Amino acid sequence: MTSVLKCALRQYMAVMTGVVVLAVPAWVEAGTVLVTGANRGIGLEFVRHYADAGHAVIATARNPASADDLQALAAANSKITVEELDVNDFAEIDALALKYGGTAIDVLINNAGITGRPERQRFGSIDYSTFAAVMATNVQGPLKMTESFTSHVAASDEKKVAVISSSEGSIGSVRSNRQPFYRASKAAVNMVMKNIAYTLQEQGIAVVLVNPGPVDTDMMAAARGRMPLRTTTLAVDEMAAVIEGATLADTATFFNFDGTVLPW
Ligand SMILES: NC(=O)c1ccc[n+]([C@@H]2O[C@H](COP(=O)([O-])OP(=O)(O)OC[C@H]3O[C@@H](n4cnc5c(N)ncnc54)[C@H](OP(=O)(O)O)[C@@H]3O)[C@@H](O)[C@H]2O)c1
Repeated sequence: MTSVLKCALRQYMAVMTGVVVLAVPAWVEAGTVLVTGANRGIGLEFVRHYADAGHAVIATARNPASADDLQALAAANSKITVEELDVNDFAEIDALALKYGGTAIDVLINNAGITGRPERQRFGSIDYSTFAAVMATNVQGPLKMTESFTSHVAASDEKKVAVISSSEGSIGSVRSNRQPFYRASKAAVNMVMKNIAYTLQEQGIAVVLVNPGPVDTDMMAAARGRMPLRTTTLAVDEMAAVIEGATLADTATFFNFDGTVLPW
């Protein structure tokens, strides 16, 4: 049963009984969602979105102690659990997977990402350590998260893995040299997750890559006033609808926020 149907059923039960249904059968409950990079930007909005829809949310952040906005959300909603997680720290990923060993995770949202500073990506003065860091966070991070949490996702009703990719990873669309580390990382995560999708298909898990479009977050601070930026609310509402609507038949698809399919 999809989470939309579960939410509709909860509302129906509330109307039919005339009371707010506080305790509903387990099968009616909205499932659990895990979000990486949940302390700001798109990740924070995913937490708000899924928590508002009644999901339990495991909201992970590198530095929970300084994640004020996330902590405020969690204080107001007991379904949000904040956990410390750096997607580059594989031991931390494995420890978190172990901690949630008995928990079914319906949707794993691999959101954490970095661009790398533009001046370090200029041909002639390439900073290779920055390139490695961008690839580690944007490619190895989602891969390792998916590897460590596959059994949790496989145990759920929804069985979905989403990666917040970017149209910047669409090789066919590149017409100029701009942020090559970031673009390479998003093309690479698309490729690695497309491969993994065919393995996870056997377990009924759908893997989708989703492009948020240009969104007004810290990552796009330099673009403010220079191009139209979408709100995190709009971008996440649209991406969540795409993830919600994706079935196993859609696995290994690179979706735009509006549900259309992007070229690799
Ligand atoms: N905004 C856009 O227009 C846009 C467009 C296309 C794709 N995207 C993608 O959307 C995703 C979210 O981007 P955003 O716009 O929300 O960016 P953002 O505001 O810069 O937020 C990035 C998030 O990733 C976290 N993060 C970075 N490195 C991490 C690590 N090693 N481990 C765990 N978390 C880490 C950050 O945590 P800290 O606070 O600890 O740094 C932060 O929570 C990214 O994958 C990005 O590539 C964004």
